Amino acid sequence: MNNSRCLYPGSFDPVTLGHLDIIRRAAAIFDTVVVGVLHNPEKKGCFSVEQRVDMLQRVCRDMPNVQVISYGGLLAQLTKETGISVVVRGVRGVADLESETAMARINHQLNPALETLFLPASPEMGEISASMVRQLAAFGADLSAYVPQEALPVILAAFQPQ
Ligand code: PNS
Repeated sequence: MNNSRCLYPGSFDPVTLGHLDIIRRAAAIFDTVVVGVLHNPEKKGCFSVEQRVDMLQRVCRDMPNVQVISYGGLLAQLTKETGISVVVRGVRGVADLESETAMARINHQLNPALETLFLPASPEMGEISASMVRQLAAFGADLSAYVPQEALPVILAAFQPQ
């Protein structure tokens, strides 16, 4: 029986509508999508790993074939440990394509069983990035066009003036 799985890795610091677009489209192609919050234990993100996983779980609640995990190591190692041989990445334009191609090649060298598939970002998502969301949040801007509504409470709480 066919049971296709893919891994959608990222920092998700925080999750954006662009990420959600890719998750939904991957979930329509694969039987199971594992969303991996990849983090470097030596680098602190804006949101804790627990917060990032929590936001993604809220956002993916209506997609039964999507699971969320976290991992503090190399992506290639995670694919070896899970046995997932397809990684999905979204590309917004040529700059993304260039850096993503380099990353895909290195990951393939580290795990020759691993292939990376690129999904072009939907046009309306082409300008959204987590770093832009963090900047807007720091200045109290309206984030509703950039992040899923389920993630908003976590983001707003993190940027609440003390
Ligand atoms: O959301 P991002 O920041 O574009 O995601 C990048 C991410 C987390 C997928 C990438 O940095 C990654 O795979 N990090 C894990 C460490 C690793 O495997 N690095 C080698 C890839 S060349």
